[in-house]
Amino acid sequence: MAKDFRKSTVYQVYPKSFCDTNKDGLGDLKGVTSKLDYIKELGADYIWLTPFFVSPQNDNGYDVEDYYNIDPGYGSMEDVEELIAEAGKRGIGLMFDMVFNHVSTRHEWFRKAMEGDPYYKDFFFFRKGKGNGEPPTNWESKFGGNAWEYVEKFDEYYLHLFDVTQADLNWENENVRKEIQKILRFWMEKGIRGFRFDVINLISKACFEDDDKGDGRRFYTDGPKIHQYLKEMHDATFGQDDGIITVGEMSSTTIENCYQYAGRDTGELSMVFSFHHLKVDFMGNEKWVLVPADFQKLKDIIFEWQTKMAEHNAWNAVFWCNHDQPRVVSRFGDEKKYWKESAKMLGTVIHCLRGTPYVYQGEEIGMTNTDFKEIGRFKDVESLNHYQILQEKGLSADDALRIIQIHSRDNARTPMQWDDTKYAGFTSEDSAEPWIGVNGNHTRINAADQLKDPSSIFHYYQKLIALREDSEISDIIAFGGIEPLDQKDPCVFAYRRKYEGHELIVAANFFGRTYPWKNAPELAGYRRVLGNYADTEFSAEGTAVMKPYEAAVWYR
Ligand code: GLC
Ligand code: CA
Repeated sequence: MAKDFRKSTVYQVYPKSFCDTNKDGLGDLKGVTSKLDYIKELGADYIWLTPFFVSPQNDNGYDVEDYYNIDPGYGSMEDVEELIAEAGKRGIGLMFDMVFNHVSTRHEWFRKAMEGDPYYKDFFFFRKGKGNGEPPTNWESKFGGNAWEYVEKFDEYYLHLFDVTQADLNWENENVRKEIQKILRFWMEKGIRGFRFDVINLISKACFEDDDKGDGRRFYTDGPKIHQYLKEMHDATFGQDDGIITVGEMSSTTIENCYQYAGRDTGELSMVFSFHHLKVDFMGNEKWVLVPADFQKLKDIIFEWQTKMAEHNAWNAVFWCNHDQPRVVSRFGDEKKYWKESAKMLGTVIHCLRGTPYVYQGEEIGMTNTDFKEIGRFKDVESLNHYQILQEKGLSADDALRIIQIHSRDNARTPMQWDDTKYAGFTSEDSAEPWIGVNGNHTRINAADQLKDPSSIFHYYQKLIALREDSEISDIIAFGGIEPLDQKDPCVFAYRRKYEGHELIVAANFFGRTYPWKNAPELAGYRRVLGNYADTEFSAEGTAVMKPYEAAVWYR
């Protein structure tokens, strides 16, 4: 019997930046295998591996050229098989990251389409322009610029919601859907325990019309046939094996659609990633601006998703970090003055929510945003495109750089900090330069030091993950209801979980100043099970006096 995914924790590995074993400066699959004991020690049940399939790497593997083979930069099929087997021995399941909204323009299907083969042309969206040199619609690519690329020899354009080398697949075509099912079955037979589906809610395009209100997303987000496609894929593949867990990455989704995507009995997916809570430092959908994070909005969004998904018996993936997000301790914590406290506080808030927590490599040791001072050190296509676009809009190079430094996906992609050696133990000291620069703070922030220190962020995360293993508490976390506490309080993020007569109270001071929490619930009779300070203080009147970034969990 597979472990209930509601009691599981997933650790995300971005293999390119995790561990390099052959000194070429690129992380590899053997590197992941070599670190399984570390992941086991942390306590994760699954590893989500971002794509390592054959790819030109224009979007670090999210541009897949061949779903059946391993990119030589990452290793070989034997390496994958060894990784699956070794993880299995440790009770860890592997989740693969399947990118099915688009393929690399180097994929055989696209190459045949470009040769004019009508069978393969219909795997994609080739459309005539509007005449006078205008593309079919005004939709914007997520990475900047128009989402259509002109192909002279057909006098047509193809759709790419992401990079121009990532051509969108036409899911209307049944042959596309059959090919995708074949790929899933291939990996299921290799012993995979889960799948993460990349931007999966974008696969059903409603129509190709100009968007006079936005960038086009309303015409393809949670599109008309999305539920049909997911059910069909579920029934034909992973739905036949109830040991397999799935998570859909849902871009700009609505909660109503997520009841369906991740409902207990809807026959689509186990759970969803939604991102609304990670846009509280955007201006609407505009990421490339500098605005302070809106704490009230953050709470309101998280609590709305928590309570409504529970009401509809649907399941969330809960997370702050992944390979597309800035580091959370830099984003919502204080990486300087309260680095340790704020990292632990943020972990506490996420891990006791109703949902399956995802820990992104390095989060468990409080890794921070990059220290890159020049644009030349950034690698991500999205960052580099927007650096240009911001300047075209009139920003100075310095201002554009400042925005990139805060929001770039590269913040999450610098090498994992294993130790204090030259390349942070990501690779050996006589290796080629790592593909992306190591953060200079690895001498202070690294796994080796934290494994030795019982008060480290690593050991705190270990305890958070272990809460799900503890019998009484794990039932509350996995099955309990959720009730926000003092939701309008300007400093505290707090909630109550309840299950079969037992309760957890989770409270966190989200800011770097001591704060007497006037509306704290009565805590007499509760046992404090975890916290990032030795103890919580109470004033004479019984008010909890929360220290900077203090977080604690109480049980009754
Ligand atoms: C997802 C991935 C991201 C990628 C994009 C296009 O958002 O997480 O890294 O660039 O999809 O595949
Ligand atoms: Ca390597």
